Amino acid sequence: MITEYTKKDLLHILNVINDAALKYKGVIPDSCWKEPYMPEQELISEFDNGVRIFGYKKNNILVGVMGIQEVEDITLIRHAYILSGYQGIGIGKSLLQYLFKINRSSSMLVGTWQDATWAIRFYIKNNFVLHTRKQTNLLLQRYWQVPIKQMINSVVLEKLS
Ligand SMILES: CC(C)(COP(=O)(O)OP(=O)(O)OC[C@H]1O[C@@H](n2cnc3c(N)ncnc32)[C@H](O)[C@@H]1OP(=O)(O)O)[C@@H](O)C(=O)NCCC(=O)NCCS
Repeated sequence: MITEYTKKDLLHILNVINDAALKYKGVIPDSCWKEPYMPEQELISEFDNGVRIFGYKKNNILVGVMGIQEVEDITLIRHAYILSGYQGIGIGKSLLQYLFKINRSSSMLVGTWQDATWAIRFYIKNNFVLHTRKQTNLLLQRYWQVPIKQMINSVVLEKLS
């Protein structure tokens, strides 16, 4: 059900990400929104930068994706998206638990939009702890490369192994 996906699955992965990301439209600041939310070239660069993407298939359809990226001593959760018609039925939780199982570092971090309250709730339910603004900024600077407008609108959560 859950397997690793590669660059050859690019269009299927983009289909999931860009459908699920529509949830952000009108919620996150307009200056942070773009359509498609994830252009093809951006996903190619993510693979080139060491992001590994895992996907969940249901009835032979790719319905969810979630990635990891090892940076220094920690693991980042990257690009967690479930097709809109399949959200809220445990697919995100299954993917997250799969990533917990294959994780090799002592800490996992995830960054998301501070206005994406549903996503924050999802991670807290799965044993992540929300960092303070000060700590969020320090972590974003150390482990991610995000523009300043994204930084001030993001939060970071952490799960210790
Ligand atoms: C956030 C997301 C990855 C969670 O995956 P999921 O498969 O929907 O989540 P699960 O079914 O495993 O867990 C459900 C829990 O997540 C939360 N949740 C988040 N989005 C939800 C949705 N659209 N519908 C229902 N519950 C949702 C709820 O807290 C829910 O718990 P509850 O049913 O006890 O209230 C997915 O909803 C999604 O792709 N959302 C849009 C894009 C996004 O926000 N991505 C996060 C990027 S960091």
